[in-house]
Amino acid sequence: MMKLAWLTDIHLNFIDDVIRQKFYEEIINTKCDGVLISGDIAEAPCIVDLLNEMVAYINKPIYFVLGNHDYYKGRIKEVYEAMMALTKKHDKLFWLPASGMQKFNNNTLLIGQDGWADGRLGDYQNSRVVLNDSRMIADLFQEKILGKYQLLEKMQQLADADAMKLADDLKHAIGQNPKKIIVLMHVPPFKEVCLHKGKINDDDWLPFFSSKIMGDVLIAVAEQNSAIEFLVLCGHTHSKASVSYGNLRVEVGRAENGRPEIQKIIRLTS
Ligand SMILES: [Fe+2]
Repeated sequence: MMKLAWLTDIHLNFIDDVIRQKFYEEIINTKCDGVLISGDIAEAPCIVDLLNEMVAYINKPIYFVLGNHDYYKGRIKEVYEAMMALTKKHDKLFWLPASGMQKFNNNTLLIGQDGWADGRLGDYQNSRVVLNDSRMIADLFQEKILGKYQLLEKMQQLADADAMKLADDLKHAIGQNPKKIIVLMHVPPFKEVCLHKGKINDDDWLPFFSSKIMGDVLIAVAEQNSAIEFLVLCGHTHSKASVSYGNLRVEVGRAENGRPEIQKIIRLTS
């Protein structure tokens, strides 16, 4: 039986090396065969070093997508290029948008795309929320200077591009006739799993904490493929949540800065 340890929003840049090593030990102790990370691993200037450190320490394959924080202090294109190079160079590091679909022993497939909040849920127009993203990610900062709707357009451009890539991945995966498809993404695709202190985020925050376009893609594909079990793992809100719609299950992990944790062990029974 294969075991995968799911982590999310571990923000390794916020913790010192002693705590990082303790966390890596904890992962090793689970005797998992691989690690899944649904984004917000670190920040652009240090993510390559931290992934290299983690994989050297735990010596297991790490399958991951990135979150908004992983682009902080960087440019999106440069981070993409760094992740492509890293995935190519390291046989145990898999940025899923670059590596593509992964196949596990018992007819389970793994795919993933980063995903971005798309401002479509909640009330973007009247929201006064300004996320650090638009200050910390160069591409979004430029749009923010131009105005609120230019920023929204950029958010949607990023979100829609990843949703299209996810739709392609799903199509490819379904063509393999799997029993189960695990999907990693960063931003929750439904408001039902976009929580803050146990309640659904309000209309001011929802635009920045959910990716409706990803939800639309997932619902359509799951409905058309009722024999396949879909498990979607995400993060971003730091608030634990889960919801099932028939054969589609979505789980969001909890997180506390400075205290990275293992969300759960996923067992792939054959
Ligand atoms: Fe995030």
